[in-house]
Order: sequence, then C-alpha cells, then structure tokens
Amino acid sequence: MSDHSPVPAIEVLSAQKTYPNGTVALQPVQLTIQEGEFVTLLGPSGCGKSTLLKMVAGLLEPSDGRLLLWRKPVQAALDADAEAKKMAFVFQSPTLMPWASVQTNVRLPLDLAGVPRAEADARVAEALELVGLSKFAKALPRALSGGMQMRVSIARGLVVQPNLLLMDEPFGALDEITRHKLDADLLELWRKKKLTVVFVTHSIHEAVFLSSRVVMMAARPGRIVEEVHIDVPYPRSAEFMVSSEFQHYAKHLQRSLLAASQHTEEESAT
Ligand SMILES: Nc1ncnc2c1ncn2[C@@H]1O[C@H](COP(=O)(O)OP(=O)(O)O)[C@@H](O)[C@H]1O
Ligand SMILES: [Mg+2]
Repeated sequence: MSDHSPVPAIEVLSAQKTYPNGTVALQPVQLTIQEGEFVTLLGPSGCGKSTLLKMVAGLLEPSDGRLLLWRKPVQAALDADAEAKKMAFVFQSPTLMPWASVQTNVRLPLDLAGVPRAEADARVAEALELVGLSKFAKALPRALSGGMQMRVSIARGLVVQPNLLLMDEPFGALDEITRHKLDADLLELWRKKKLTVVFVTHSIHEAVFLSSRVVMMAARPGRIVEEVHIDVPYPRSAEFMVSSEFQHYAKHLQRSLLAASQHTEEESAT
C-alpha cells in the first residue's frame, strides 16, 4: 500500500514553552507546514516567534508537546547521515567573524562538518553566486554594507544545501529599499531551490509580499490567533505591493493584530 499524501516538513504538536523564570512564552501551539511552503510567523514583540522558531530548529526544548521534522523528532531528523534533511538558521544580525574573509565565513559550517576543502570551496562559490556576492569572496565583512553582510549570512546558511530555511527577522535592521531587494531575491531562491521557509517578521507588508501562508501570533501569552493563506501566484513583482489585493491582505492582518492586542488588554484588565 502506498501513501501519496505529502510529507509535512514541520509538525508542531501541542508544543508549549515556559522559561525557567516562569514566563509562559508560548501556549500550546499546533502547526503543520508542508514541504515547499513559505510560512511567515507574524506578530508583535514578545509573542513567542523566536521561541517557536528555535524549537523548530532544535535549539530549544519544548516544555510540553512535540516537534517533528519530516515525521521524525527534530534531533533525529537532523542527525548527520547521508539521508538526513538539512536545515539552516539565519539570525537577525549576521554574526560574521570580522577577521575572516567572506568566503571563510561562508565555509565555516562545512569546515565544522569536515567537508573536504575542494568540495567546500566549490559549494562556497555556488552559495556566493546565489546571493550575488561572487566578486566579494576575498573581502572582509567590514568592507560590506549591512545588506551585503546579510547576504553573506544567507550564503553561510545555503552552503549546507538546506531543505529547510529558518529566518528570524533577517532583514529587520536594514533600510526599506535594501530589505525589499533582499525579500525579492529570497523569493527567487526559495523557488529555485524548492526550499521550505519559515520566516519571522513583525512587518505586515513583508509578510504579505513573501508568504504563501501567514501565521498571526499574539502576546501575553504567546499564541497563534489566525492563519491566512495569501492566494496570490508567484513570481510576485513590486506591482503586487501596490495592488488592491495586497491592501486587502494587509488590512485584514492589521485588523487581526489589533483584535488580538485588544483581547490581551481586556484579559489583563480583569
Ligand atoms: N531566555 C528567556 N528567559 C525568559 N523569558 C524569555 C526568554 N526568552 C524569551 N523570553 C520571553 O518569552 C516571551 C516570548 O519571547 P520571544 O520568543 O523572544 O518573542 P518574539 O520573538 O516574538 O519577540 C517574551 O515575553 C520574552 O520576554
Ligand atoms: Mg524574536
């Protein structure tokens, strides 16, 4: 008997997080993400976006509940055998080694994994090509703009040839124009490499532009309040951002965010 149903890349099964100091960062969360989706976690500061993403990455243990990647517990799924699916995590700040060249920074995960030098160099070259930084392989990070440093950080994620890309407010520190350029490039990369992406932002506009699905969260306590499918085909151009369709989704998410915040205030007023 064969099973043709798609394998979910991520299953969050009633996962909950209370930090040791007693902060309830996340109420039990239920979330399934299929392979190839571009899902954005959207919500105000403190609603548990980073906590959820770190649990998906296996960087944090849930206090209760379970998380599966490709139907296996996170750690087992990421164990380094030949069959293993790979994940990359890109943080808000690029955290590059300042004394090392761009290519050495990008090669770091491969050096740590003991990948032979020739193969590593070829993969570094490919990753730099993908983010448009081939010409800057020998440069030091401080010679690059903020947007370019972020591209280096993304290349360092891509060099492991991930199936799953987790990004925590990666473009939050960049100016609007640079951010939009990186958003557009990220979408191209996602399509070209058939990645599954989980992206964190508190920008409604960024969420609508990028996502196939937006997961709206609220704070105190952190929880999912709504999921919105953005039913707009890719590729999406800058034109999409000035369309009435775009405005419709942005408005809807704005209202949902407001409703969630009011809810929180009423609860805390009683
Ligand atoms: N290590 C920690 N110890 C205690 N509380 C934490 C810790 N990390 C985050 N929190 C708290 O958990 C809640 C969710 O945080 P976080 O996941 O960082 O939210 P977000 O990424 O949406 O801003 C916040 O109230 C935050 O202060
Ligand atoms: Mg965060």
